[in-house]
Amino acid sequence: MRSRIVGTGSYLPAGVLTNFDLEKRMDTTDAWIRERTGIERRHIVAPGETTVDMAEHASRAALAAAGRSAADIDLIIVGTCTPDLVFPNAGVMLQGRLGNLGCPALGVEAACSGFIYALSLADKFIRAGEAKLALVVGAESLSKITNYNDRGTAILFGDGAGAVLLAPNAEPGILSTHLHADGSYLPLLRCTGGVSAGHAPDGDFISMAGSEVFKVAVNMLARAVDEALETNGVKRSELDWLVPHQANIRIIQATARKLEMPMDRVIVTVADHGNTSSASVPLALDIGVRDGRIKRGQLLLLEAFGGGFTWGSALIRY
Ligand code: ACO
Repeated sequence: MRSRIVGTGSYLPAGVLTNFDLEKRMDTTDAWIRERTGIERRHIVAPGETTVDMAEHASRAALAAAGRSAADIDLIIVGTCTPDLVFPNAGVMLQGRLGNLGCPALGVEAACSGFIYALSLADKFIRAGEAKLALVVGAESLSKITNYNDRGTAILFGDGAGAVLLAPNAEPGILSTHLHADGSYLPLLRCTGGVSAGHAPDGDFISMAGSEVFKVAVNMLARAVDEALETNGVKRSELDWLVPHQANIRIIQATARKLEMPMDRVIVTVADHGNTSSASVPLALDIGVRDGRIKRGQLLLLEAFGGGFTWGSALIRY
């Protein structure tokens, strides 16, 4: 038995922070941000709005798309590095909202690769016959850990959530997932401070050596897409869509070049969403599905790279 995506959903908070808004708050320009990142605006949670709130909206949209009831869900995995609380985990809190009490529910923290990690785990539960309807979510309130006094990172991040429902299927939907991590890169990208290590005096914020991260991301993603294609004996030309993590348009373009894919076969949301970490891939997927570009039976390559470093891919027959 293999797993297949039977519904997708997403949610973006109403508040929008444009490059022009940032120009008023720090020494930057709309032109610099667009040229270096491709980002024009990002959505930001309202005061009091949380990661689990956004996850719930995205999950309910995925349930509606699949025509399924929350009571049918028997596994919840939420990828996030910005959970509402230390515990209960975001998956359990989401379960409490949806009302399908009793099923396993967990949070996965793998920074921007959180959704790919969550998807891979849910796929394995379904293949093992231990889940019949798995809810997989990527949701983030990155604005809560963004230092708006650091122009090197403040321009990049946004908030949002995306969700998919996976169900068993005789024909393979998820063809493969590959997950990787390399903890030796911790100094290049992290959120400073935490419960056990102690909080940073001025707050716990994302700290990143941007250009170093950029170079490693391009290299690792090039290897990850080769790995996905080689494992499945799939040629680059057979791919219909690349659904990449939306960190920077130049990283996305580099991966598309590696795959010899024209940009009109890449789902790009970075201009409107910025980098939403775990939420970025399922948000892009849902947008491509809902606007009719991604169709049933097409071959999709999902990939992500983030803090850790963590990275991974999923090759999917949609
Ligand atoms: N506005 C204007 N100038 C700026 C800004 C800004 N917002 N930010 C930096 N600069 C300046 C720098 O100070 C530097 O000036 P200098 O030459 O006088 O020293 C110059 O612009 C160039 O800075 P770089 O950091 O070299 O710029 P770069 O082209 O690398 O772009 C960026 C920076 C956008 C951060 C890029 O490196 C990037 O996207 N990196 C990868 C991000 C990523 O993929 N992260 C992984 C996922 S995130 C996660 O896991 C949570």
